[in-house]
Amino acid sequence: MTEITIREVGTRDGIQSLGAFIDTPHKIRLLEALSDTGLRRIEATSFVSPKAVPQMADATDVMARVHRRPGVIYEALVPNVRGAQDAIAARMDSVLVVLMASEAFNRKNVRMGVEDSLAQAASIKAVTDAAGMRCTGAIGTAFGCPYEGEVPEAHVFKLIERFAALGFDELMLADTTGMANPLQIERTMRRVLDRWGDRIAFGLHLHNTRGMGLANVVAGLNAGVVTFDASVAGIGGCPFAPQAAGNISTEDTVHMLHEMGYTTGIDLERLIEVARLAQDILGRELPGQVMKAGPRWRLHAA
Ligand code: COA
Ligand code: ZN
Repeated sequence: MTEITIREVGTRDGIQSLGAFIDTPHKIRLLEALSDTGLRRIEATSFVSPKAVPQMADATDVMARVHRRPGVIYEALVPNVRGAQDAIAARMDSVLVVLMASEAFNRKNVRMGVEDSLAQAASIKAVTDAAGMRCTGAIGTAFGCPYEGEVPEAHVFKLIERFAALGFDELMLADTTGMANPLQIERTMRRVLDRWGDRIAFGLHLHNTRGMGLANVVAGLNAGVVTFDASVAGIGGCPFAPQAAGNISTEDTVHMLHEMGYTTGIDLERLIEVARLAQDILGRELPGQVMKAGPRWRLHAA
């Protein structure tokens, strides 16, 4: 049985785009509940400009007050060196440096060009290496951009090469606005793993914007990908992408993986409870489906 690693991103990618501010105690409650499900990696927050993403303004406070479960890796997204320094000060276990494959999207997201973001990535890697902290790279809009359209695979490969040259040994490839189809994912990820699989660990960050999310997970599995980002209850989006719907839901993904014979180390029943907690906290119905229908083995009275 293949072990799959899920990186939970609900309290970062999920919550960042919500209009109403989720207060600090509720963010902490969600993080602590997620920590008790067997998840081993949680992208808990981001250290970004509060003007760019007001929802993440309490990142330092959240991480100072949350009860951390030993064995869980708490990660944070950072766009620049300032963010990495804040993440180190907040005693994060790991940071994720993100840049976009498309110039237009990168400028919208971090108000700088892709070359400048690569320079930030180099400095962040140096800063985190010196601090003995893990650092993962992420390439957004790797399978299509809502502003520029098609993103050539060759261009993504060049960016992977740039990250490799900086010494990154883990990269997430992100379908930021749910534009990838399963054949594209399988084809690209086979080539990526063929070329860099011996040096770099790759994960997929998928959105379910057009209903292709879980099909894309299967395509990734077929190509040999063993790490996937997902967001509890399917909360999510991106404040810089038009109509970006949620990430793939963690509990739907875990349910599917377990049904297919993969292991995750995650307690699905507990995870479903957290998805319901997220609905209570956000005060509205969220997209996750398994929390509504129940796992497929649950029988109903005839
Ligand atoms: N954390 C907190 N504050 C930060 C920061 C960080 N990582 N980086 C910069 N700032 C502050 C600066 O101190 C400055 O504050 P001031 O106006 O009070 O002096 C302000 O933000 C502007 O700084 P500047 O360097 O000019 O940045 P910018 O306005 O060009 O914005 C980013 C660039 C990268 C900081 C901003 O676009 C950002 O945080 N983007 C993140 C977007 C995101 O999270 N997207 C979703 C994930 S993919
Ligand atoms: Zn995302």
